[in-house]
Amino acid sequence: MALTREQNDQLVRTGPGTLMGDLFRRYWVPALLAEEIAEPDGPPVRVQLMDEKLVAFRDTQGRIGMINEFCAHRGVSLWFGRNEESGLRCSYHGWKYDVAGQCVDLPSEPAESGMCARIKLKSYPCIEQGGVIWTYMGPPELKPAPPALEWTLVRPEQRFASKRLQECNYLQAIEGGIDSSHVSFLHSGALNSDPLFKGSRGNIYNLRDRMPHFEVVEYEGGLLIGARRQADNDRWYWRITPFIMPWHTLIPPRAGHPIGGHVWVPIDDENCWAWSINYHPARALTAPEVKAMKDGKGIHVKYVPGTFIPLANKGNDYRMDRATQKSGDNYSGIEGIAMQDASLQESMGPIQDRTRENLCSTDNGIIMMRRMLLKGAKDNREGKPLPALKPEMQRVRSCAIELPKNVTFKDGAWDGLFRELDTDPVTV
Ligand code: FES
Ligand SMILES: [Fe+2]
Repeated sequence: MALTREQNDQLVRTGPGTLMGDLFRRYWVPALLAEEIAEPDGPPVRVQLMDEKLVAFRDTQGRIGMINEFCAHRGVSLWFGRNEESGLRCSYHGWKYDVAGQCVDLPSEPAESGMCARIKLKSYPCIEQGGVIWTYMGPPELKPAPPALEWTLVRPEQRFASKRLQECNYLQAIEGGIDSSHVSFLHSGALNSDPLFKGSRGNIYNLRDRMPHFEVVEYEGGLLIGARRQADNDRWYWRITPFIMPWHTLIPPRAGHPIGGHVWVPIDDENCWAWSINYHPARALTAPEVKAMKDGKGIHVKYVPGTFIPLANKGNDYRMDRATQKSGDNYSGIEGIAMQDASLQESMGPIQDRTRENLCSTDNGIIMMRRMLLKGAKDNREGKPLPALKPEMQRVRSCAIELPKNVTFKDGAWDGLFRELDTDPVTV
């Protein structure tokens, strides 16, 4: 069943005071890669999240500031500011702010005026974890414990995180992340050629059975979305994609490759950050794996130099190659798994009109995810408990497994989904 216009609006709007925006602000938000503000007193970085324009900087002491982008004096962007001596100083008239947004120097007024102490910019607390700077934009008294997603807890050499701009609403991007039925079509060429995907028996099953059956199970952090395909020896091949509230998805592993994951974070209602993470829970990534990730293989992309904008993007029709599309080497003609997804999701328009869609049985995970978001948003307004706020609720990983036909994935795959740190993934 298609959504009503009101439901669609509620789901896609995330600015301050919106239903979904208030929900998302209860969780830690990945804001930027730690390397973007690696140096004390280094250049500040513009950060836009859920329609709020902010600027991030690391001060002389190494503390992280995430404050309103615009100077309280006359609205100049503090991105132009001077990051010096424990604060960010506006380049226009020299007003200076510390990491908490407090004005600490106001050279255009006499000190006796007391004006400086009264000036404070909006600011959000930050933490650094898993190579990422996270910020918390919700009510201070409700700030949750730091993230406990497995990829944020492993050693740095076990993990690679990247982000890219995606030019559409976050929701259609999440929907792609939990829709494992498109793999048999859109990514069919990449399964056997991409260095971070190839060589898995699961690939054969993905290509052979293009009508997976979905079973979706709720757990206290979100949803476990099981896609079942026919395997050899009269067994089922299960790929289980966790959706961790409110915007994390984990891709089931293939053979011994690292696990993949995404976070889909609204920039505004028509753009989002697609965070793409690979990690191996039990070993360091190999040099060839890291090279492939840096080269834009797997779920990562090549960039327009100096930006997080994909090199293949809307402006150049994603460098679509009709010849490889026709030959079948590449199902859509667009290179790379990430841009195969992004190109089609952006093609729906900046905000998809979900009143007009015709959902089918492979969309079960999507239907339940939307419901969970709307319910979470309403529960939040009513002060009820929310999924995945407690660290232990985030401790799930994806898995891929062959099971006898009389075993449900809830019984057969549970151990693969909820494993101790530092253990190998369950994978086919
Ligand atoms: S606008 Fe920033 S100090 Fe005047
Ligand atoms: Fe995809």
